[in-house]
Amino acid sequence: MLLTPQDGGCKWLISGFLKIMSNQAIIAAETALRRTFAIISHPDAGKTTLTEKLLLYAGMIHTAGMVKGRKNARTVKSDWMSMEQERGISITASAMQFRYKGAVINVLDTPGHQDFSEDTYRTLTAADSAVMVIDSAKGVEAQTRKLFAVCRLRGIPILTFVNKMDLPGRDPFDLMSELEEVLGIQTSPLYWPIGSGRDFVGVVNVLNNEVTTFEESKGGAQEAISETMPLEIFKTKGLISDERMQKLLYDLDLLKEAGTPFTKERFLKGEVTPVFFGSALTNFGIENFFDRFTELAPSPGPRLADKRDSEGKITEEIIVDPVKDSFSAYCFKIQANMDPRHRDSMAFLRINSGVFERDLVVHHERHQKEIRLSRSHSMFGGERNTVDMAYPGDIVGVVNPGVFSIGDCVSIKGGFTFKPMPKFSPEVIARIRPSDVMRKKSFDKGIEQLSSEGAVLLLKPRGLISNDSLVAAVGKLQFEVLQHRLSEEYNVETKMEILPYQHGAWLVGDADKFKPPSASMLAEDLTGRVILLYGQDWERRYALENNPGYE
Ligand code: G4P
Repeated sequence: MLLTPQDGGCKWLISGFLKIMSNQAIIAAETALRRTFAIISHPDAGKTTLTEKLLLYAGMIHTAGMVKGRKNARTVKSDWMSMEQERGISITASAMQFRYKGAVINVLDTPGHQDFSEDTYRTLTAADSAVMVIDSAKGVEAQTRKLFAVCRLRGIPILTFVNKMDLPGRDPFDLMSELEEVLGIQTSPLYWPIGSGRDFVGVVNVLNNEVTTFEESKGGAQEAISETMPLEIFKTKGLISDERMQKLLYDLDLLKEAGTPFTKERFLKGEVTPVFFGSALTNFGIENFFDRFTELAPSPGPRLADKRDSEGKITEEIIVDPVKDSFSAYCFKIQANMDPRHRDSMAFLRINSGVFERDLVVHHERHQKEIRLSRSHSMFGGERNTVDMAYPGDIVGVVNPGVFSIGDCVSIKGGFTFKPMPKFSPEVIARIRPSDVMRKKSFDKGIEQLSSEGAVLLLKPRGLISNDSLVAAVGKLQFEVLQHRLSEEYNVETKMEILPYQHGAWLVGDADKFKPPSASMLAEDLTGRVILLYGQDWERRYALENNPGYE
């Protein structure tokens, strides 16, 4: 048969169509495997230990106890800055990728310290679900509450892991009612602990009454030795006293009668949190938790975005589909000098749709220009691995020669941005200068790069002939980190003086004619936006009354 040009065109169209479809099938399959999540907790609840055990059970490390060493200098995997090692707190939010039993895990490490809330909040925008770690003796703590509130705001599903069951803790029912009362979420335990403290021997699957018992292996450095059996068999083994068995059976009955039934639908809506019990230290209940986590946690879904016209004005709200739409991503984090061997800044992009390939040329929405995403990396601790391909839910780090700011959106199609990042007003403001004026140039470079990460806001006093730099942040610890990093990474020692302002308000109106209250100060950021720094809220009201027409 002779082929007409139309036939040929048709075949070409069909083969093109099939190619797109098979590409989409690959993206759909890869997306379905992804679990991008953050672990939230109050400092010391066991977030780092749990992360490490996830690495252990995923086969990424062979012995636990190397992730973080406070008391001795073990190497750090999920935290990479010396400051973190020294203080034993996780300051930078990092992302790691690995496989766990077929699923592709992207874990975002959120800093636990309260002064780092803004960074944490941004990181949480990149997560599709969250694991909330609770200390079984302490219950819901301050930082857990704050982080939980952010997850709630974003409507992401939350799984709860009650940790440290190997230590004497509170009654599990007590903990669940605290979760419900304080956080306002329904709880539904999927596993129930058998005993606690030294008597914590295993967990029962509440849905099918299957018991898993554990034995510690090498002080928790290796996977726990476990055995799974029906409850009926467990009863005959005499592993716990009759009295404790009666209590266990009573608890299980109570849960069936009066507990909140678990449905995946309500979990995905963030209405109910499945609760697990275990010990990250001894690995009891860890595998059961991770297995259910990969079953339950959602893969990347559609994201809301704003369509924009050629002038950047929002025209309508759109939904970006992870599979059907071409590549798009946004920058949720910037970090300078992550690795002293590579003195550069890295922008972390979360992919929301389509496939990423190395050297992809994308449209940068804020700059309105095409850029090439070269030198893309994924991170495992301080080690960089080149990324050739990545899918929705993945985090890629790209070397950032000043192109990216937090919240920037890149895509193949162009013409839209994802919803803006939450912004918090500064609560501490300080003047900072180099101790040695000869180091001014390095100081300027350092402070500019570090402020581009978004942890501190760099300001200049307005109207004064002054070389002073002001920095504003949500918490004081960020200043300490700034000074430490200026010293470590730029070799600049600094002097800092905290100023008597606790608030900042962006000024809308002609700043030259504005009459600020006597105890306040006007400053501007690098883009020329003017901010009023003041101590008490009445000063802001006073300023507004005396400057009609301003916002
Ligand atoms: P964080 O990231 O949430 O701040 O907590 P992290 O994992 O660092 O754990 C805080 C402390 O609690 C660590 O002890 C850790 O070993 C311990 N821990 C974590 N999970 C468990 C658990 O299930 N049971 C018990 N008993 N302890 C647990 P540390 O002595 O402060 O530090 P390290 O020297 O052990 O690193």
